[in-house]
Amino acid sequence: MLSAADFDPETLARVAAELATEVGRRIREMRDVGVGVAATKASRSDVVTDADRRAEQLIAERLEQVRPQDGILGEEGASSESSSGITWVVDPIDGTVNYLYGLPGYAVSIAATVSSGAEARGSAPPAGTTSDGRRAIAGAVYVPVTDELYVAHEGGGATLNGEPIRVSTETELELALVATGFGYTTERRTEQAQVVRQLIPRVRDVRRMGAASVDLCSVASGRLDAYYERGLHPWDYAAGALIAREAGAAILALGDDELPGESMLIVGPPKLAASLRDAVRDAYAGLA
Ligand code: IPD
Ligand code: CA
Repeated sequence: MLSAADFDPETLARVAAELATEVGRRIREMRDVGVGVAATKASRSDVVTDADRRAEQLIAERLEQVRPQDGILGEEGASSESSSGITWVVDPIDGTVNYLYGLPGYAVSIAATVSSGAEARGSAPPAGTTSDGRRAIAGAVYVPVTDELYVAHEGGGATLNGEPIRVSTETELELALVATGFGYTTERRTEQAQVVRQLIPRVRDVRRMGAASVDLCSVASGRLDAYYERGLHPWDYAAGALIAREAGAAILALGDDELPGESMLIVGPPKLAASLRDAVRDAYAGLA
């Protein structure tokens, strides 16, 4: 029998934080021993390492021990139904290409999500619901190389290594440092390059650092002013978008009536996020 405590976002955030830290430390140790490509996915450049698979397996095993009624959805295929209503959305290594090359920008991302159920009720989905129909209520992103742990739970604010964080105070798009990312297929990248080409004269500068979860946390801590990307999967953004939201960011889609998610995620302090959305809309509208 599940009790209210089983749904307590603060407790879930603690589970996410402990697990992300444990697994993050483990993948860093694995990297020191060596790393190799185990398989490719959407294209030859979309790689999976042994560490991705082992890390996801470890996360699934631990969750099975401590939260047996919960479901899991993992980037490397972990999938189980939830009987509690909570599903853990997991990216065992976000920034796998950084990991492969020994660049520091990779992370473990773990979020506890609930299904909005809005469709069944015929009502508007609650704030924070993304286009996959879920809402993250707790999450953690751990960056092993810098030993940085970002944590948030719904309504509780966001922290970096235990200290509260806030989005930047920037309001002007032309002064904004904006990050983005690129998908793995040629078609998607070609389109994304054309969009960046139109945006870059309108902002302070653009960064492409290679891990969506870390980009979202960087918006949360003010290290970046804003971020946008098309084509993300729920495991890329579930924890990071909650952390950004709890740090004061608006999470927007391209269209007014759409939910943010795979088709577009635009994140930043509310006024700036709205301006970035206009600019990204213009850029997509300007595509041939
Ligand atoms: C990728 C990273 C990257 C983003 C891609 C994601 P992966 O995840 O988050 O920054 O631009 O869209 O697929 O493959 O490293 O887990
Ligand atoms: Ca990812």
